[in-house]
Amino acid sequence: MKVLHVVGARPNFMKAAPVYRALGSRGHEQTLVHTGQHYDALMSDVFFKALEIPNPDESLNVGSGSHAQQTAAIMSRFEPVVLARKPDIVLVYGDVNSTVAAALVCSKLGIRLGHVESGLRSFDRSMPEEINRLVTDQLADLLFTPSADGDENLAREGIDKDKVFLVGNVMIDTLIRFLPKADELFPKLKAELSLGSFGLVTLHRPSNVDDESAFLSMLQVLDSLSRELPLIFPVHPRTRQKWAAHLNQCNPNLHAIEPLGYLEFLALQKNARVVITDSGGIQEETTYLGTPCLTLRENTERPITVTLGTNVLIGRDWELLRKKFHEALNGGRKQAGRPPLWDGKAAERIAEILMAGH
Ligand code: UD1
Repeated sequence: MKVLHVVGARPNFMKAAPVYRALGSRGHEQTLVHTGQHYDALMSDVFFKALEIPNPDESLNVGSGSHAQQTAAIMSRFEPVVLARKPDIVLVYGDVNSTVAAALVCSKLGIRLGHVESGLRSFDRSMPEEINRLVTDQLADLLFTPSADGDENLAREGIDKDKVFLVGNVMIDTLIRFLPKADELFPKLKAELSLGSFGLVTLHRPSNVDDESAFLSMLQVLDSLSRELPLIFPVHPRTRQKWAAHLNQCNPNLHAIEPLGYLEFLALQKNARVVITDSGGIQEETTYLGTPCLTLRENTERPITVTLGTNVLIGRDWELLRKKFHEALNGGRKQAGRPPLWDGKAAERIAEILMAGH
């Protein structure tokens, strides 16, 4: 079978890696297309190396732009590639603009489409990712879900259950595979960053970083929390570009550093006393690792990380943030478990389903 994978942004790479590996070991012919949505070396190249995936066969080099510009550029550059390569199936990952753009092209050309990490819903259409999820799932022929809430959402939207497969979480496949390597490099990283006890912060959602007063109020709280526990804050290039002056004024315990590689970031997530984030994937990784996670969003498309895992939704309630931060520091951890099928074998299940001719 000829399988074409589409990746474009940082969170795609760790999802595609295990599926690429599982299909490769079964002898399928594979093509990897990188749209170039993320293009900085620290947002892209370092992941290919760390995750041991080959360089892309095709690079579309679309770069940044408005949502319409970026999505349109991916579509028009992807169409000739998919026509020339003639895959039996195209696999798209997650919820970024590259995912929906490739999905639209495939469905118009009548090419089979599989969506990995299907069915997640925040029910918040002001998030661009929610639009990408809704559209991609309507178009996909095969929908691979990470948790049962995904299956329920898809059923509610009228998607035929014969197309839906609960396979587990491919991002956790990658985490399990690379955790020993992350453990190995932690002592060196700890020395380089002069780490004792620390917390970890990431912020990149437009709702948190686009508006100056919203960003500043968050930064002030983080600045004050970092006086109690040093915080490592790898900064997304967009946030850095916009707010360098504000970041430079923070106290030295709030370490605003460059984006980190996969293994380095994993090592920090495992060893942090607490993680403060607005990312989607980090809510899942911290749940698996058992690290307390405080999410600066009003909602989540990954509710299982709250009901079963270590995640707490904070929104913009800074009192709650302080309270949960102190709880985490004082060892008052939320009792947490690992969701079913987050066992390192999700990609194997996907490969078996494709082999079975679905
Ligand atoms: C994208 C995804 C988001 C995901 C995030 C992970 C969409 C709609 N959003 O958001 O779901 O959680 O990736 O990081 O697909 N930029 C650079 N270098 C890069 C890439 C971007 O400097 O390599 C800057 C540019 O100024 C660009 C901005 O970041 O305009 C936003 O990039 P974009 O890819 O549009 O969205 P992200 O915020 O990265």
